[in-house]
Amino acid sequence: MAGMIPRQFIDDLLARADIVELIDSRVPLKKAGKNYQACCPFHTEKSPSFSVSQDKQFYHCFGCGEHGNAISFLMEFDRLEFPDAVDELASHYGMTVPREDNNQTPAQQKQQQKAYAQKQDDYALMEQISRFYQQQLRNAPDKNVAIDYLKGRGLSGEIVKAFGIGYISDSWDGMMNVFAKNSATTKQLVDLGMAIQGDKNKPYDRFRGRIQFPIRDKRGRVIGFGGRVLSDGTPKYLNSPETRIYHKGQELYGLYEAKIANKQLERLVVVEGYMDVVALAQHGVTYAVASLGTATTPEQLQTLFRTVKEVVCCYDGDRAGRDAAWRAMDNALPLIQDGYSLKFVFLPDGEDPDSLIRVQGQQAFEDIINKATPLSDFLFEHLLVQHDMTTAEGKAAAINAFKPHLAKLPESHLKDAIVTKLANHFGSGNEQQLAKLNKAFSDKKPEKTVTKQGKITPVRLAIALLLEHPHIVNALPDISILQHLNIPGIPLLNQLLILCKQNPNVNSAQLIENFRGQEEGKQLTKLMCLQHHVEPENAESTFLDVIERFLNVFIEQRTEELLSKEQITGLSKLEKQELHSLLSA
Ligand code: UTP
Ligand code: MN
Repeated sequence: MAGMIPRQFIDDLLARADIVELIDSRVPLKKAGKNYQACCPFHTEKSPSFSVSQDKQFYHCFGCGEHGNAISFLMEFDRLEFPDAVDELASHYGMTVPREDNNQTPAQQKQQQKAYAQKQDDYALMEQISRFYQQQLRNAPDKNVAIDYLKGRGLSGEIVKAFGIGYISDSWDGMMNVFAKNSATTKQLVDLGMAIQGDKNKPYDRFRGRIQFPIRDKRGRVIGFGGRVLSDGTPKYLNSPETRIYHKGQELYGLYEAKIANKQLERLVVVEGYMDVVALAQHGVTYAVASLGTATTPEQLQTLFRTVKEVVCCYDGDRAGRDAAWRAMDNALPLIQDGYSLKFVFLPDGEDPDSLIRVQGQQAFEDIINKATPLSDFLFEHLLVQHDMTTAEGKAAAINAFKPHLAKLPESHLKDAIVTKLANHFGSGNEQQLAKLNKAFSDKKPEKTVTKQGKITPVRLAIALLLEHPHIVNALPDISILQHLNIPGIPLLNQLLILCKQNPNVNSAQLIENFRGQEEGKQLTKLMCLQHHVEPENAESTFLDVIERFLNVFIEQRTEELLSKEQITGLSKLEKQELHSLLSA
């Protein structure tokens, strides 16, 4: 396992990063006063309420409430996990992400760094090969057969380019001739599955005489290829084997392209083939991915549901298609929380998405997708038919059949609804069960709205000001003065005071990063967006005023405490002195 990314590195990275430049490269920004703005990439809107602050190194949408620093932006916009987002940001600034693992020996650490460097090199080589295949589509002596093939399948130059589709003529060393420059690279090409090491002879091209589809990971790095024969040779598709950078069960063909084509992805359609993905994009359905194998794995489903809330699996209507759908459903069950949906479409015999959309067009295909069977219906269709619901035995068997699946589904309204529906199939006499269910329904708390801003209490205001202007900590002669104050939020404020004091040039984004994944972090990011209307030039004095108020509260609290103690047990000499000075303060 990779070790932890050192806190210091993340701190340095955020100091180096420029959030305005980062966001502008993905969502063009316009200067508006001190800040920059754009229409929010995270929700649909006509007038811009998405604001990016250079000073704070922070973005915030006043419409939908999304907010965060450069790392959060990459996590949200590029849909990356935290380590990938850090890696992506670091590579932009030419920085290598170090890993720390206290259990690792220096030798292991060195090994890990070597593996990291090796992979970076692998990605670069695969990218070059992909470019080479694309060039071959323009330059190979027999390029016309390839171009005609692609045209014959209805693809435009634009789509071919967007998917990086290329070509390699039929020879043993078309690629190796160009890339296998020395023994190290030759070995690398074999490791990456691009060349095959024969028994005695030197390694030769794996892909020969094929249309080449580059398989990109979610960051757009080429990690493998699928190659299609031009005529009816076999195998029809040849795929990269598993390598150190390609694990087919974790990747989805077309996901990167779908993210590029859609600022806001709302749903994804999972199809079976490379050509299905590309043909759908050609006809305007730019949100299809292929699962690169027969079954959709739990890892792929996790990626899908991290990217969108609605996933439609589109399969053949035959037995194999239904089995594939059933397995996908079972793998997806643990991920289906309220708000997320998995649906199924089964195409008529002999059709695939490619043939269907080419004949019937985008609208017809989307009509089918819109009428997809929801998971719950699919579950009932599949399970109830197997049981005779008119007999007690049949009913009992049905309950047993549902059990393992429902057990995987998280507690949710959907689960409640499925249980209720199941109960309904048992006819009357289940009032007790339903009453139980209904109670579970009413126990649910209403969802919180993200945009609502909490009350501006003095503690919240102090924290907000400190987050925005960390340097105002210097106006405090002593940062420990609030230590004994008994007010909610003060411990967090104290923690921030210490961080600001210890890191004189810390910026807001770095401060918040210290709390990622913690409950405090959520509170702080919210406070970062608190609309308090304190102008920057008044920040320090306002902050000091608030602190003074806290001190007054402290004086009151302590005075009262001492006064009541005096009445009950009496005071020590020291306490008497303290009370005296408090009363005269
Ligand atoms: P299909 O056989 O359904 O082909 O394979 P297709 O996608 O309709 O291909 P075209 O339209 O004839 O070009 C579906 C998927 O199964 C994998 C590929 O990922 C393919 O896209 N497959 C199929 C292979 O890996 N190898 C094969 O020989 C065939
Ligand atoms: Mn097909």
